[in-house]
Amino acid sequence: MPSVYKAIAFRAQPVVPWSCWELGHRMNWLQSAAEKFREKRIRRLIARKSMIDPVRAGNLLRLAQRIEEESIPGDVVECGVYRGGSAATMARVATHSTLNRTVWLFDSFQGMPPVTEVDGAGAQDWVGALAYDARKVAKLLKRTGVNMSRVRIIEGFFADTFPTVNIPQIALLNVDSDWYESVKICFEKFYDAVAPGGFVSIDDYGTWPGCRLAVDEFFTKRGLTHKIIAVDNTASWFRKD
Ligand SMILES: C[S@@+](CC[C@H](N)C(=O)[O-])C[C@H]1O[C@@H](n2cnc3c(N)ncnc32)[C@H](O)[C@@H]1O
Repeated sequence: MPSVYKAIAFRAQPVVPWSCWELGHRMNWLQSAAEKFREKRIRRLIARKSMIDPVRAGNLLRLAQRIEEESIPGDVVECGVYRGGSAATMARVATHSTLNRTVWLFDSFQGMPPVTEVDGAGAQDWVGALAYDARKVAKLLKRTGVNMSRVRIIEGFFADTFPTVNIPQIALLNVDSDWYESVKICFEKFYDAVAPGGFVSIDDYGTWPGCRLAVDEFFTKRGLTHKIIAVDNTASWFRKD
């Protein structure tokens, strides 16, 4: 083609040289890149507000997804919230469930309660630590896209707050309250409400001897045979059959 025609052809190109399909494709790509960026930011924020590491957080997320995929009915309950990292991980999924779920979060927010002898060496050093503000937990949940109309934050020591609630069915129970007495009361209050096929996660089964003892004693007393699966050397979980 003579160069003068080439120049005319070049100038005749549309201002936006993309077809509608190309434009749509590029918009989708931009949207998904923005979504990925937002998701990464939220996960980083949650990680900063949690004592659990990415492996344990990943396991909790997986359990929260499984109760959706398998339509396990019931609420999600966490005992031991602290700054809300693990709560946000589960609530981001559970509060958008098509099933009618509520997410219950229990903590004194006044620091770790007194220990007993079975809690082992080093436990005493934590008494009074980990106090936090429940309003900041609510703020974190909102920022991470949780539907707050489906969340109940119940502030106070378990012995005082548990008798005030009735949760008939639980799909996922996360026990992250460390001490023998705290873990024992969680199992006594909530185990029976866990639905068949529902999950129980125990964050400190491998770390704190009092926690392990409370769970093992409960299993023995009730003749339970659920297989307890280790996530890492700290957390474990089981499925209620
Ligand atoms: C290890 S922290 C929870 C960590 C949290 N799940 C996270 O993602 O980082 C343990 C929490 O359990 C709470 N806790 C322990 N025993 C309790 C009890 N008897 N009553 C109320 N809260 C208790 C403490 O206040 C503390 O915030």
